[in-house]
Amino acid sequence: MRNIAVILAGGIGSRFGLDIPKQFAKLAGKSIIEHTIEVFQKHTLIDEVCIVSHEDWIWKIEEIVNQNNFTKVKKILCGGDERKDSSLSAISAYEQSEVNLIFHDAVRPFVSDKIIDSCIESLKHYNAIDVAIPAVDTIVEVENKIIKNIPKRADMMQGQTPQCFKLSTIKQAYEIAQKDTNFKPTDDCGVVKKYLPQEDIHIVNGSIDNIKITHAQDIFMADKLFQLKRTSLDTRYSKEYYDKELYKKVLVVFGGSYGIGKDIGAIAKEHGAHVYLFGRSTTNTDITAISDVKRELEYVYKKEGRIDFVVNTASILVKEPLAHTSYEDILDIININYLGAVNVAKESIVYLEESSGHLLNFTSSSYTRGRANYSLYSSTKAAMVNLTQALGEELIHKKIRVNCINPERTLTPMRVSNFGKEDPKTLLSSKEVAYGSINTLLSNLTGQVVDIKLNKVK
Ligand code: CTP
Repeated sequence: MRNIAVILAGGIGSRFGLDIPKQFAKLAGKSIIEHTIEVFQKHTLIDEVCIVSHEDWIWKIEEIVNQNNFTKVKKILCGGDERKDSSLSAISAYEQSEVNLIFHDAVRPFVSDKIIDSCIESLKHYNAIDVAIPAVDTIVEVENKIIKNIPKRADMMQGQTPQCFKLSTIKQAYEIAQKDTNFKPTDDCGVVKKYLPQEDIHIVNGSIDNIKITHAQDIFMADKLFQLKRTSLDTRYSKEYYDKELYKKVLVVFGGSYGIGKDIGAIAKEHGAHVYLFGRSTTNTDITAISDVKRELEYVYKKEGRIDFVVNTASILVKEPLAHTSYEDILDIININYLGAVNVAKESIVYLEESSGHLLNFTSSSYTRGRANYSLYSSTKAAMVNLTQALGEELIHKKIRVNCINPERTLTPMRVSNFGKEDPKTLLSSKEVAYGSINTLLSNLTGQVVDIKLNKVK
């Protein structure tokens, strides 16, 4: 039986509050719906994808499908005022022969291959499937603001999508439903439950990650979930992989005199990249001076004719309360940690656009929360994240990827000078961070903070 994924994108996302439907909001450099379509495009058991869109946004869906070469998308249909009308649009489009219809919310980009596998397997035994997770909160049934019933929590589950049906089953349910003048379902399983009560709707385990992006704050959660999925960036791939991907690539590192920057250069060189390391103590390169940044990039471009990767690891850490910090140090920290990164980013754009290249910044785990005695370090590191996210979006049309590495405590000369001798088992080596950085440079991510964690390093 053919498996057709129906991606419901006919809503306008009124609770999200953007001036475009929420399915087009950006998550890790792509729209939410692009991530969702990609999951089904890549799933080997999905034969075809159908997208149901609000009529005003069909042009946008067509653009997304073409740009991404989503070859499985065979139909883009016009949705209706309510979700049920959008589902019905797909049911009508496929009514000629029996197929499995796998309805999925466009705004659930974290649906996993495992959930889709289980749905397709269950469709061999049942005509209707819902995906659900155990309820974490107590569910209360309410009428006129008074509790009518408190069902036992252990019996309660929260519905997600996909919801999957044999076409004949969902079609029959909708045919009966349409004759009912009080027809107000919340979802497709609700239609089957009410109008074909004899039909068992089988439950497949969902996942707590399979969230529906509903309100504006959900996008922050989604960003984090997206990062957690990418644990493989903490690993080391084969020598052949790095040889192939790095051969003759031109890499420029600012802050390359020592520590992580130097190690990134060494690894890339070992695998055939042409590497240029610039730093204050080795090449007398000051990233706070625009003329220095310009000069080094021009020099590399003149020699190589291209620049593929620009990495900026330069930053300083002065650990003391603001009240005791001299104005000279304050300016130094802000200029090196922030202005320097802005200079490197701005001057690199012209070169990276030509190579569809990658700009890599560095932050610190203190970016999420300012820490006493590091106020300038942690606030400039928070600025790096914000800069990365903004540039990720700004430069996507130039095909430049911009990401930011967030290493856990790492054994670098800067750390030793501030914290003294620490147990090496509690610290990442700068080489491991360098591998995570190179993996990121070779990935398609953009606008992301990539965490490198001690316990995940192999
Ligand atoms: N949906 C649809 N057609 C509609 C309404 C909703 O295809 N007429 C889709 C949405 O695009 C979304 C999914 O159903 O992918 C889940 O719906 P919901 O989160 O309620 O989305 P919206 O209706 O867009 O949001 P809101 O209720 O905040 O307006």
